[in-house]
Amino acid sequence: MILAREWNAGEYEELSAPQTRWGAVVLERLDARGDEAAIDAGCGTGRVTELLLAKLPEGSVLAVDGSEAMVEAARRRFAGEPRVRVERQDLLELRVEEPVDLIFSTATFHWIKDHERLFERLARALKPHGRLVAQCGGEGNIARATEATKETMEEERFRQYFAGWEDDKNYADAETTARRLEAAGFEEVKTWLHDETAAFGSVDELTRFIGTVVLGGHMERLPEGEREPFAAAVAGKIVAAEDAPALRYVRLNIMARRSA
Ligand SMILES: C[S@@+](CC[C@H](N)C(=O)[O-])C[C@H]1O[C@@H](n2cnc3c(N)ncnc32)[C@H](O)[C@@H]1O
Repeated sequence: MILAREWNAGEYEELSAPQTRWGAVVLERLDARGDEAAIDAGCGTGRVTELLLAKLPEGSVLAVDGSEAMVEAARRRFAGEPRVRVERQDLLELRVEEPVDLIFSTATFHWIKDHERLFERLARALKPHGRLVAQCGGEGNIARATEATKETMEEERFRQYFAGWEDDKNYADAETTARRLEAAGFEEVKTWLHDETAAFGSVDELTRFIGTVVLGGHMERLPEGEREPFAAAVAGKIVAAEDAPALRYVRLNIMARRSA
């Protein structure tokens, strides 16, 4: 069963320039021979997967995502490319025919609550000594946006749609993540946080971005007509707090090797 939620793949493809930029930086840490079999865990529409493939001229990529729309978009992108296979799978249930040399993942792990289980599944999908190179949102990520979202959810107009709401993000810290990776069978573990700011040209741009990339789970709860007003209300509060249409990200970086 796939528990991962749906995404608006068309909007994500258009709006994910920050994630693509960060993904390209993480790829510089890959240090690949070029003939490895790799997994892109949470491939989205495949923008970053394409950059991963370019690092593996003799290799192959299994691109995995839980969202049907994302998988369709990635399949269209890689149609006719025999070195990429796109599969719809929940990473918490990840299964592979053959263990791989390398797992790469960006902007995905913070959408998954159970990191203990996630890292176990990833370890199982790797060959002994296989490497995990990843980045996701970490402790303190977009804290003002999270605060603005909570405040907006409590407003009279929106409160009714969020009964029983549980936060859908998991912004883990570096130390806890390192411990979880070691417990799941990784060694040579390195985890660290760093800051990134994404700036937008206008409040409208920020509204569109957060509506797709940050608040997708909230959007699912809201009726069609309340979605844009909700995202706009959150964006307005972010701009008031930051004095600019900007999101202050904290990225959690992960490098680890599966033990023998
Ligand atoms: C922000 S997108 C990142 C896409 C791409 N890696 C990038 O950097 O642009 C997060 C992706 O993670 C996927 N995802 C979240 N939870 C997942 C899960 N449990 N299993 C598989 N995919 C998941 C979502 O469907 C979405 O496509």
